[in-house]
Amino acid sequence: MPNPIRLKPPASGFRASAPFVEAITSIKYGLATFLATVVMASASPTTLDHGTWIDLNKNGRKDVYEDPTQPPEKRVADLLKRMTLDEKIGQLFQAYRESDADAAYGGLLRQGKVGSFLDGSELIENPALRNHLQRIAVEESRLGVPLIFGTDSIHGFRTIFPIPLAQACAWEPELFEKTQAISARETAAVGIDWTFAPMVDLARDPRWGRIAEGFGEDPYLGSLYAAAGVRGFQGTNPADPDRVIACLKHYVGYGAVEGGRDYNTTEISEYTLRNFYLPQFRAGVEAGAWTVMSAFNCLSGMPASANHHTLTDILKNEWKFRGFIVSDWAAVNELMSQGIAANPAEAARLALTAGVDMEMLSSNYINTLKPQVLAGTIREKTIDEAASRVLRVKFARGLFERPYVDESWPETAFLKPDALALAREAVVKSCVLLKDENNVLPLSRQLKHIALIGPLGDDTNDLLGCWCARGRSRDVVSMASGIRAKLAPDAEVTVIHGCDLPGVERNPDGSLAARNRSPSASGEAAFGQAVEAARRADAIIMALGEPDSWSGENASRSSLDLPADQMALFNAIAALGKPVVVILINGRPLALPEVQNKAAAILEAWAPGVQGGNGIADLLFGDADPEGRLTVSVPYDVGQVPVYYNHFNTGRPQLGEYVDGPRDPLYPFGFGLTYTTFKYGEVKLSAGTLKPGGTITASVNLTNIGSRPGVAVVQLYIRDLVSSAGPRPVRELKDFRKVRLTPGESREVQFALSKPELGSYDRNGRWVVEPGEFQVWLAKDSASGKPAEFKLVDKDQD
Ligand code: NOJ
Repeated sequence: MPNPIRLKPPASGFRASAPFVEAITSIKYGLATFLATVVMASASPTTLDHGTWIDLNKNGRKDVYEDPTQPPEKRVADLLKRMTLDEKIGQLFQAYRESDADAAYGGLLRQGKVGSFLDGSELIENPALRNHLQRIAVEESRLGVPLIFGTDSIHGFRTIFPIPLAQACAWEPELFEKTQAISARETAAVGIDWTFAPMVDLARDPRWGRIAEGFGEDPYLGSLYAAAGVRGFQGTNPADPDRVIACLKHYVGYGAVEGGRDYNTTEISEYTLRNFYLPQFRAGVEAGAWTVMSAFNCLSGMPASANHHTLTDILKNEWKFRGFIVSDWAAVNELMSQGIAANPAEAARLALTAGVDMEMLSSNYINTLKPQVLAGTIREKTIDEAASRVLRVKFARGLFERPYVDESWPETAFLKPDALALAREAVVKSCVLLKDENNVLPLSRQLKHIALIGPLGDDTNDLLGCWCARGRSRDVVSMASGIRAKLAPDAEVTVIHGCDLPGVERNPDGSLAARNRSPSASGEAAFGQAVEAARRADAIIMALGEPDSWSGENASRSSLDLPADQMALFNAIAALGKPVVVILINGRPLALPEVQNKAAAILEAWAPGVQGGNGIADLLFGDADPEGRLTVSVPYDVGQVPVYYNHFNTGRPQLGEYVDGPRDPLYPFGFGLTYTTFKYGEVKLSAGTLKPGGTITASVNLTNIGSRPGVAVVQLYIRDLVSSAGPRPVRELKDFRKVRLTPGESREVQFALSKPELGSYDRNGRWVVEPGEFQVWLAKDSASGKPAEFKLVDKDQD
């Protein structure tokens, strides 16, 4: 799709001349924008705009890099050869500024020494400010290289969808692609070109607050979601105005931080890295992701942001990644605290030569690379390579043709009907029904009095979840509203908190001001009221869980319990002996065996976003059927962590139990109930042997033996019984299908298996597929079913 060149001041926009820029540096931006609109409305149109191209270097000629008809690689090469060393290094710097960005960076921008801006809140709220900075770069620097603007839209920008961990539980990557496309549309509407997502870190430790941002513990499902996320953000052409450049993060191993403590060290063998932590990144690169973010963690003895092996050998050389790598926030600087660099120059050299092309936030690159090149300790070729990568992405984004964005008030771009409908669908599909004793769910719409108890019943803040970009509380449909909308007007919904949600108090540097082990803030009186309301009600729903500040970056937990006063409240209500329906709102799996024992029903709703209340109510009242399945194991107890389905067998699989608790998780990977019951037949294979180039069909007869329609998620697992490349997991997910069946309906569900699905990486990073015996399950979760067996044979074997 052609990108219209738009250099004319947009409707409410302004064009900054140098004197004007100087004049406004002391004015805060809200005011500055207003004044600029008034003052510059009559400014003469730029002479750089030639209709189909922009004279970025202001020489009156159409040079190769300015010519949209030239191949991108030629344009990159042409531009690079015109750039000074300073300008090339400038492309490698990503600046951050909350306010007065031009006062701080105007000088550098004019010298072509800033490559990108990372959002400050004002940049996000204000496309005019974005254009203003862009104008300095484009119209006042020598070569006019445009800036690229980035931000974090992790599960939506203003229309906040369920957290990614929840969306993965829908087992529907196509849906994730759609939600990310809406996220791209809203992000792009405020003038942002690039989002730092999808976060594709495999995680097995629910203590880690960032487990909320990823897709769980499975590399196959994670890979499908990584690719879908990239497609959703970038579409078929990332230059389209409603798309953004994607960024796979955090490369790599960040999800394995020791003790679940954020930023911590990781120790991951090449074998585990290749088979578990890298596949999602590879899938994202193959889907066309233009950027990758290097992680904070130290990876097997070398920080991920200075790790030549993962950044250059694997990502750039082996996978042929052509975009650029941006460091995480000040991760280059942190190489000093991590103890591998003695000073900024060393930190910059280590990161750059390992493969980090752009430095986020800290300024070690712009401050120290030039003297190092001049002294011969860094080759200019290395700078050229990094700058070319950044420029390539800017060309891909179409910034050389479309540097400015529309400044019309973007509110109209947000929360559109299609976005809200999709958000509601995503909630419905990502909730996981963990228990439903005696079919207490779905509830009747004829109920006359519901007690909605717990601190999250009418919440509109914490439902948004961590990393909620520009999500607003006022956009959120609470559970109370969603439930009320399902009932007759005269029905009563009594909302009682019973106790408060704990918070997190932090110092300005992010460290904890006070440790919160959820002290009981609630008095007897609040509990008493809740119990009384529950006693009188026809149905009791408890809305329990974590505040959003307990998930996300720098928000790890040492326990997986409910906050203590919520647990006490639950026990007080459960003691009434009436059926209690529990809705859980949380960013991580919680270990709640007591709730499992005592509640009649449990719906895991995660942090569901703006349509949370509606989507949850759709499920509670049976207007939709539960389809979610866990993509992460839910432990009995924090002491089991890490506990995940795709582990290796030990030499003594029957031993190694805990003497004081179960070994298996409370709910396994793949688990989730429906309002109906599915019967799985025996797994049938089309043949007993598989030859190279051939396929085997695995099938199962599935019947809905319940009385309601429902969606089964048929999961195909394999096990390679013996592998000289290294042990294989006791089960590995290789395929799945969602099947909707009406009561009494049966279907033969078939999957094709061929040789590529059966391989794995060896300890040297080679892909190996060995002849031998395999087991296949077609089951409802990772802990159920009986396998069939087949043999993979060499081509001349029978
Ligand atoms: C640090 C986080 O680790 C990363 O995920 C995020 O993209 C950057 N900050 C930028 O906000």
